[in-house]
Amino acid sequence: MALLDVQGITKRFGGLVAVNDFSLSVDRGHIVALIGPNGAGKTTAFNVIAGFYKPNDGKVFFDGVEITGLRPDQVCKLGLSRTFQVVRPFGSISVLDNVMVGAYARTSDTRVAREKAEEALEFFGMQKFSGSTASGLPIASRKRLEIARALATGPKMMLLDEAMAGLRPAEADEVIAMVRKMSEEKGIAILLVEHVMKVVMSLSERIAVLHHGEKIAEGNPSDVVQDKQVIDAYLGEANVTS
Ligand SMILES: Nc1ncnc2c1ncn2[C@@H]1O[C@H](COP(=O)(O)OP(=O)(O)OP(=O)(O)O)[C@@H](O)[C@H]1O
Ligand SMILES: [Mg+2]
Repeated sequence: MALLDVQGITKRFGGLVAVNDFSLSVDRGHIVALIGPNGAGKTTAFNVIAGFYKPNDGKVFFDGVEITGLRPDQVCKLGLSRTFQVVRPFGSISVLDNVMVGAYARTSDTRVAREKAEEALEFFGMQKFSGSTASGLPIASRKRLEIARALATGPKMMLLDEAMAGLRPAEADEVIAMVRKMSEEKGIAILLVEHVMKVVMSLSERIAVLHHGEKIAEGNPSDVVQDKQVIDAYLGEANVTS
């Protein structure tokens, strides 16, 4: 049984159908990418899956439990965590305190939360930032902080919404390494939204493509990037060979 099973979700905003009858499944420990042009509905799909929006239609199952309509904190407690396209750490508090906020998803004990947060920071080699104020960090470190906070919630799966956008190649490589490490050492499944095709190709075992809210292709990366509909809708000829 798939870990995440999205069955025909539709999300409308007034007359706009942002996500239309979208289905996707992700197995335990797998890395899957969701790609598509701006406004295709990727973030909206994430928001439905993670409980931020109720779908107009369709169902979402996680680890054998229907999670459609559950609140984000309930979804998170079941082991599905996410990061946001626009990073929003609590700026005035320390990195450690930010990561503790994630850990409180699973415990109300401050000591345990601190331990879990320290573990998450150490897992990514970020202990040296523990005492820094989050708002003082450069964007790349804030993006890494978001992932550490999501890890501290103790997830079976993580949704990453453009975790590498706006980063320089070397910084993006660090985030790629974080994703690989979570997958390989902790068996955490990853669903990632990403525009940088090099990142998508190097990380994902499967790619799904959204266009105007609809899934137009899904398959292994090398097939998907050669799909005519995907090239026309999103990639353009230039990206296929690069
Ligand atoms: N809260 C909202 N209210 C109304 N319309 C929305 C809302 N959120 C998203 N939309 C619209 O839904 C469509 C899908 O947006 P979404 O943010 O999901 O796209 P995306 O694929 O994540 O794009 P990007 O690559 O630019 O992040 C867009 O037309 C967007 O304007
Ligand atoms: Mg988006």
